[in-house]
Amino acid sequence: MQTAAIPPGPTEGFDLGGSDESLIKLREYFEQFGNTYRVFAPSRGVYNYVINHPDDIKRVLLSNHRNYIKGEGIDRVKILLGTGIMTSEGDFWRRQRRMMQPSFHRRVIDQFSALLHEINEHYAERWSAAAARGQPINLTEEVSELTLEIVLRSIFGADLARLKRQSGVNPFHVVAKEQNRDLKFAFRFRSLTKVAAEIIETRRREQTEHFDFLSMLMASRDRETDEPMSNRELIDELLTLIVAGHETTAAALTWTWYLLSQHRVVAQQIEEETDRYSAQTLSLGAAESLKYTHQVIQEALRLYPPGWLLTRRSLEADELGGFPIAARTDVFISPYMLHRHPDFWSQPEDFKPERFAGDDAAERHRFAYIPFAVGPRHCIGENIAMFEMLVHVHSMARRFRLTRADNEPIELEAHINLRPRSNLMMMVNKR
Ligand code: HEM
Repeated sequence: MQTAAIPPGPTEGFDLGGSDESLIKLREYFEQFGNTYRVFAPSRGVYNYVINHPDDIKRVLLSNHRNYIKGEGIDRVKILLGTGIMTSEGDFWRRQRRMMQPSFHRRVIDQFSALLHEINEHYAERWSAAAARGQPINLTEEVSELTLEIVLRSIFGADLARLKRQSGVNPFHVVAKEQNRDLKFAFRFRSLTKVAAEIIETRRREQTEHFDFLSMLMASRDRETDEPMSNRELIDELLTLIVAGHETTAAALTWTWYLLSQHRVVAQQIEEETDRYSAQTLSLGAAESLKYTHQVIQEALRLYPPGWLLTRRSLEADELGGFPIAARTDVFISPYMLHRHPDFWSQPEDFKPERFAGDDAAERHRFAYIPFAVGPRHCIGENIAMFEMLVHVHSMARRFRLTRADNEPIELEAHINLRPRSNLMMMVNKR
């Protein structure tokens, strides 16, 4: 039983979350101080608390979630996303989440299967041409563009093609092309509000029928006041979905292909599974029945969770890991560390997709695996992200085997999302 009032921690100060070095520090501190420790953050002059035990994580994200708001990390995100559901709090967040939730229902998402199929077919043709030329593809860019196209077309439907025709370019392309997420990018990205506003205005005027997220959000009503979202609210939610839906999925797919290129036997097993399910357009149910492919994606998300650091701030005092937590304390949770916690994972550094099947999975602590977070603020896009990733891996693994074009060591970049620092070049081999 812990009695000390203050958890252990390093004597040095360090701004966790502020640089790639954070991952090294998180590992170091965990080795030294275990499940609960605190680190002085020089940039803000306060102590950040770090928790690594799934019971405490459950408390912060689920059982006592009312005591926590999104913490320090979210300020950076706000510059980019305004006040969409990723960054808002309290009654406003609750209202927006309630209005958006039905659009992410499984029945609705299933209707995107033809779109997922069409976009993957287009990229399969590109990959096929690269294979024929014997040239590598820039996998990082390919999946970034592919996931951006999916998110944009699922939001704006046919309006995206109209915009491209009118202006000759995809105005949202900057999101995939520009890798930095600095202030300059935030400024360019926020200028897209004009484009979104124009689409919304045109739809209000023309009253045309669409099936896409924008039309669902425009039709949604507050259940108390029966009011729709204002243009401002709609725009912030759209920009939130674009960024939240694109970067995370792109990073997860990049990691998946990287891991497959390093594990031939696993790749072969995926190929065998795709050969058994050769149906062209996969429904959500059919995609989910690709059990092994699902396990591989889960394992990629375990080792490299794009959302590698979640931050919360306590409203009132609490207790975590046996230590008192004062009001207004920033509490950090790292899925990257949790997913490698030696008490909850055997051989945590190894890539073993089968750990997501059978007894291993059934007996594991439910809160030891949180790539999409848990509790009321868990990822609203979890189902569509999984659907999208399953369809993509299935579509491509049926036809191609990807091998690395070089042997450059992979370094981790831990900014808002966890991704490989440099572009991953891959040779496409036709099967
Ligand atoms: C592999 C893909 C994805 C991963 C790993 C992921 C991960 C996460 C995580 C960890 C959170 C919680 C953040 C926090 O609590 O601080 C989150 C929230 C969120 N995600 Fe995702 N996400 C993915 C895909 C998507 C997609 C495809 C969409 C939408 C199309 C989406 C939309 C959102 C939104 C709107 C939130 C905020 C929810 C709220 O606060 O109510 N995500 N995601």
